Amino acid sequence: MSQDKEKKMAADAALEFIRSGDVVGVGTGSTANLFIDGLARIKGRIDGAVSSSDASAARLQSHGIEVLELNNVGSLRIYVDGADETTRHRHLIKGGGGALTREKIVAEVSETFVCIADSSKLVERLGTFPLPVEVIPMARSMVARELAQMGGEPVWRSGFLTDNRNVILDVHGLDILDPVDMESRINQIPGVVTVGLFARRGADLLLLGGDRGVEEL
Ligand code: A5P
Repeated sequence: MSQDKEKKMAADAALEFIRSGDVVGVGTGSTANLFIDGLARIKGRIDGAVSSSDASAARLQSHGIEVLELNNVGSLRIYVDGADETTRHRHLIKGGGGALTREKIVAEVSETFVCIADSSKLVERLGTFPLPVEVIPMARSMVARELAQMGGEPVWRSGFLTDNRNVILDVHGLDILDPVDMESRINQIPGVVTVGLFARRGADLLLLGGDRGVEEL
């Protein structure tokens, strides 16, 4: 089955978890876009959405779904988003689209984080996908040196700025044996805004599209 079909199956499966009156936390990326398109079909039942990026906010609004400020909402019952890699323990690498910081904020305030993905995203160990790190621009070289000392090969995502006007370093070659420990070590480097490891607060439920339908993990 094609990756696109698997993503669509996972995105549609996530709609089953939406309840009447929810303000839905919405992620970023091609799988999240399919979820947004599905959400449009049931928009009369929800009270709006909190978006993890400007791009998703624009897509939600194009469907007539109200986008609310997180500061005016507080907590969320559910957050639905994709991932670049996931383990069976639901530890994730995210940030391929550069929205990792707002994604982590929305995940943090959400009671349930439902991750939607195609089967290609499931890995035994995280780290084949280069690990995105959002960095304050003036700290780029310093943070890159620190990441190199940790055994990674950071590559500046040249010409790209996040919605928060920061830069991204994509770190290749990291052996992520302990995702929770690596997440906290990278987050402690001054100048790092967020690392795209979602391990301390991973997904609560993984909906994985595949040949035999949608697997729930
Ligand atoms: C966006 O910054 C990412 O965290 C996405 O969630 C991730 O890149 C998954 O994207 P796709 O659904 O396009 O694979």
